[in-house]
Amino acid sequence: MSTATFAAKPASSNAKTLLTGGLAALAGLMFGLDIGVISGALSFIGKTFEVGDHVQEIIVSSMMFGAALGALLAGYLSASFGRKRSLILSAALFVASSLLCAFAWSVAVLIAARVILGLAIGLATFTAPLYISEIADERRRGAMISTYQLMITVGILVAFISDALLAYSGAWRWMLGLVAVPGALFFAGVFLLPDSPRWLKMRGRDQEALDVLVALREDPEIARREAADIDEQLQQKQHGWSLFTGNANFRRSVLLGIMLQVMQQFTGMNVVMYYAPRIFKLAGFGQDAQMWGTAIVGVVNVLATFIAIGLVDRAGRRPMLTAGFAVMALGMGILGLLIYAGIDSETQRLLAIGVLLCFITGFAFSAGPLVWVLCSEVQPLKGRDFGIAVSTFTNWAANFVVGVTFLTMLHSLGDAETFWVYGGFNALFIIVTLAFVPETKGISLEAIERKLMAGRPLRRIGR
Ligand code: BGC
Repeated sequence: MSTATFAAKPASSNAKTLLTGGLAALAGLMFGLDIGVISGALSFIGKTFEVGDHVQEIIVSSMMFGAALGALLAGYLSASFGRKRSLILSAALFVASSLLCAFAWSVAVLIAARVILGLAIGLATFTAPLYISEIADERRRGAMISTYQLMITVGILVAFISDALLAYSGAWRWMLGLVAVPGALFFAGVFLLPDSPRWLKMRGRDQEALDVLVALREDPEIARREAADIDEQLQQKQHGWSLFTGNANFRRSVLLGIMLQVMQQFTGMNVVMYYAPRIFKLAGFGQDAQMWGTAIVGVVNVLATFIAIGLVDRAGRRPMLTAGFAVMALGMGILGLLIYAGIDSETQRLLAIGVLLCFITGFAFSAGPLVWVLCSEVQPLKGRDFGIAVSTFTNWAANFVVGVTFLTMLHSLGDAETFWVYGGFNALFIIVTLAFVPETKGISLEAIERKLMAGRPLRRIGR
């Protein structure tokens, strides 16, 4: 649907916001579904193709590899062809590759399909939040980022439950193929959306941009003011690479984004997401219990995200991140101890589940949502697109490293030792947070930018 048709059809402002919110929800949901779906399918895939741990690691990680590439491409595609078209491309790739995964006739095809799936996800994880922030009005922006993370966790949960149900028949092809259904919904949904007003203005299509804004805000006066704001912002040309090479202060914020995403991934959260049934097996659970235990992990992940949504603007980023890393360090450390001592009794098994759930809670109220929030806050306007593209790329690259090394670590270091390594990382991140992460609660993005560019230490570019 063209921009003009969208503008010509009046619907209530709320309905349109809901549509945009719905899109956010679907992109996050897709992200989550694909993170979650592989854990339950993995052991069956291993059996079908008779492949061991190393190949299984590659099957898991091929998606993150594709996603890192997709995030890199996304900046270029969404600037040249527009946010909407990038999302359409992502949705189409998403449906096609999910089906290809389901029908994969060899390991090579499965891996190739997962790389393409990754491309789709990388593209969506850069473009969707960008689009949302450009189309939502100011009052709703923060809530929409949190909703986005919430939907990631819901996606993971839905994938875990669907895996658990399908596990009885070992139907891994269905597990992977069903993900095409929300993908198709996403595809249809994106067509209904208008182009981003900011992008239209970047291309000099001022009248269309104004039409979209009038249709969205339903108040020509507000729309005109926003259009003028966008014009003013666009005076600040995006200078990603040249700013990066020429300005030491910008390099610091880009490095902060990279560091935050590396920390988020090296908590070991995705080890649990991808290999949860395997971890439950290490803890002595039978097959059914492994799948349902995994589903409980998904539920706790969703619920604990609400703690972040409720507290982030009151307690602040630094205390919550520090507390989260402390909980995760303890969780991983104790889990390692339990595995080291040998888990034989029912009580020990319950204890193991308990600490694993504490770990998940620690992630979901801290590093999960807060890293995304911080990454969107610390980049100066001129280098925003570049900075966020780099941090999104890092998220997937680090995710890849974690996914591709976990089973190998179990073999080479030992089970307990592997969890201790992650426990150690989390303990280290407490110190890193205290030393480098700014407190950005309740402070305007302009103020953060001013302090960054004035050369203040990173920890003090916030409050
Ligand atoms: C992370 C993902 C992770 C998810 C878990 C997200 O913030 O980026 O890698 O799987 O949270 O809920």
